[in-house]
Amino acid sequence: MPSINIKTPSATYDVTIASGILRTLSSRLAKLKQGKPYRPFVITSPDIWAHWSKPFLASFPKQGPAAPTVLLHPAGERFKRMAAVESLAQQLALAGADRDALLLAFGGGVIGDITGFLAAIYMRGVPYVQLPTTLLAQVDSSLGGKTGVNLRAGKNLIGSFNHPLAVLADTDTLRSLPPAQLRAGLQESVKAGIIFDQRLFSYLEKNAATILSKKPTPQSEKALTHVVAASVRVKADVVNQDEKELGLRMILNFGHTIGHAIEAATNYKQLLHGEAVAWGSIAALHVALARKTITPAQADRITKTILAYGPLSTFKATAAKLVALTYSDKKNRSGKRAYVLPTGIGATQVIYDITDAELLAAAESMLAFMRQSTAAPAKKKP
Ligand SMILES: NC(=O)c1ccc[n+]([C@@H]2O[C@H](COP(=O)([O-])OP(=O)(O)OC[C@H]3O[C@@H](n4cnc5c(N)ncnc54)[C@H](O)[C@@H]3O)[C@@H](O)[C@H]2O)c1
Ligand SMILES: [Zn+2]
Repeated sequence: MPSINIKTPSATYDVTIASGILRTLSSRLAKLKQGKPYRPFVITSPDIWAHWSKPFLASFPKQGPAAPTVLLHPAGERFKRMAAVESLAQQLALAGADRDALLLAFGGGVIGDITGFLAAIYMRGVPYVQLPTTLLAQVDSSLGGKTGVNLRAGKNLIGSFNHPLAVLADTDTLRSLPPAQLRAGLQESVKAGIIFDQRLFSYLEKNAATILSKKPTPQSEKALTHVVAASVRVKADVVNQDEKELGLRMILNFGHTIGHAIEAATNYKQLLHGEAVAWGSIAALHVALARKTITPAQADRITKTILAYGPLSTFKATAAKLVALTYSDKKNRSGKRAYVLPTGIGATQVIYDITDAELLAAAESMLAFMRQSTAAPAKKKP
């Protein structure tokens, strides 16, 4: 069973990735709490709970303080707000949650980000465990301790660094994910391969059909678990070296400069995050090609692999609008844009001298490619 250690100056914990974790949850949590009494509070959404409450509850007593209290929060990015934190805190207080509480974030990135932030501030801090149920949450958002909520003024503008006691990723839960969510999440794995892990990239390149198999087989489950574990390893390696995003962690932002601009240009409604990142990655390849940090053959392999995890929804925006929107990226420092360029497959470089002209040319090439590629027409997010 793959278990990967996150070790940063502020926390050390394990990420476990396996099928069937939910059914043994209570003993795993008892171990984490080192036998000390605790009260579990599950924070999840109705759609996730409808699918997975049975295996989730199987290992817990039905009554008494060790029986989980379930707090349901509506699904969706628009509910990742301060109001959610206040409402959940109020529910915790009414349910008698004290410092013995253990919060369990059972859901995708939205539930994980809210719960991690709530855990940071409820009673000035209670422990929490990440139980990610989307591919994006398993390979990205549950790791690294970034938590928070959105403001009307922008995404993730309020939050804190707050690591969980552990991340327990049950790959079975991915079975109920809408296929588009799975594919979009896999774009973060493709990104991990491009920036840091040539072997992961080659594996994704060669095994797309198995990984995306509609009917789960032992082989496809094994392939997916392998990809999740390898992607987690990339993020863990990067976060372990740079917890607070002062340097190396920036590389996780590959594809995100234009990706975030695309999300903003389409009001966060038209594309899934991974799809926007995929288009942003294709734009980054054009910058890299112009600067000759990658070869046309490498760019071609990367593009084909990104598309293998498509189809990517298309969108309408001008290159100029996208470039203008890159100025509001949170990652910018004193007006300077950090930009992540591939320097091969499995290797990257962060540059600070990217010009508008370069970005404009790359965005235009990406948009031209989008128009002539066979990408599916834009559809609304489910
Ligand atoms: N903290 C970080 O470092 C970090 C990193 C990347 C992204 N994020 C955040 O993550 C969020 C996106 O996360 P996401 O893509 O997981 O979206 P999400 O949490 O909104 O989940 C997507 C949808 O799938 C449903 N769902 C979740 N698991 C399911 C399952 N197993 N079966 C069926 N349906 C399921 C959810 O209820 C929701 O409707 C964004 O808010 C983003 O800002 C955070
Ligand atoms: Zn991302």
